[in-house]
Amino acid sequence: MNKVNKDIVILGIESSCDDTSIGISKNGTILTNIVSSQNIHQKYGGVVPELASREHQKNIIPTLSSALDDAKISLSEIDGIAFTKGPGLMGSLLVGSSFAKSLALSLNKPLIGINHMEAHVLANFIDNDIKLPCICLTASGGHTELVLVENINNMSIIGKTLDDSAGETFDKCAKIIGLPYPGGPQIEKYARNGNDKKFKFTIPRVDNLNFSFSGLKTNIIRLIEKEVSYNKDFIKDNLYDLCASIQNVIIETLIQKLELALTYFSIKTIAISGGVAANELFRKRIVEIEKVLKVDISIPQKEYSTDNGAMISIAGHYKYEMKEFSELSINIDPRHKIKTYKLKNK
Ligand code: KG4
Ligand code: ZN
Repeated sequence: MNKVNKDIVILGIESSCDDTSIGISKNGTILTNIVSSQNIHQKYGGVVPELASREHQKNIIPTLSSALDDAKISLSEIDGIAFTKGPGLMGSLLVGSSFAKSLALSLNKPLIGINHMEAHVLANFIDNDIKLPCICLTASGGHTELVLVENINNMSIIGKTLDDSAGETFDKCAKIIGLPYPGGPQIEKYARNGNDKKFKFTIPRVDNLNFSFSGLKTNIIRLIEKEVSYNKDFIKDNLYDLCASIQNVIIETLIQKLELALTYFSIKTIAISGGVAANELFRKRIVEIEKVLKVDISIPQKEYSTDNGAMISIAGHYKYEMKEFSELSINIDPRHKIKTYKLKNK
């Protein structure tokens, strides 16, 4: 007897940076999304690559067990193994890819290599019905990209950071203030009670749809160092206002370019993704754009904005449907990129 309409169950393994995460989807619906975060990096003020890969090795099997338990799925029910091929840290990617390959080989199921940045964009499709084309702004610790999404397997970068990412700027400013890594949520926490107009930082001017955060970061750090040289308690005395002003200028930099991109392409749908998309001010500003510019917006749940296995699983689901499988000999690609769109001068 022929089996008809068999369920498609995809395991998604994410290990590109410092979170070991496994998600499981069934017919494109997420059943579970388990994330093991690595607190070990907090005291170093940033991710230490060697420690990250060692932690992934420790965490990956317990994370899989929790994901299978939570989804009430057995390994034999899985139809495909998706994993992050890149971009990311070499050692971290190797742990996830070797694990995915062993599972695919032992279960005799297809292996599906996923671009982490494409998966961030596709996280928007987990709970939302998005009208395409759309522009997705992905802002994470490693990347800040504006992506034109024509359909789920056709996306291109229309703008990106030329130096530091938005997340990195949060992290580096937090470090100088003395807040632990990751800095974004810390700055957000103190910003809630601060005056964002107290310190004036200038939004960087960059050509086209690109971003640059390194000059802004240097301005912020210089101001703090100068003020501390006059008053050693400057940070303590101004913590809330400092955090509010820093958060505001980073978020406004992102919002201005996003608005420019919408106009340039006459696009009516916005999506956001990446760790910085968990920021409440950023989300609030996106909702304001929805009202003012009369566009549709997609904001993923926070657990699908930061690095997570669910987005790898959903990206794997689409590739499974298109039968885009990878060979067991597939290599990781720490610099894996989405293709670039060539902007015409208008
Ligand atoms: O996407 P993600 O989890 O990992 C990478 O692929 O990098 O992003 C992590 C980045 C960190 O820089 C972190 O400080 C930032 O996202 N982040 C935030 C918030 N939550 C995480 N930045 C601002 N506000 C937040 N609530
Ligand atoms: Zn990421």
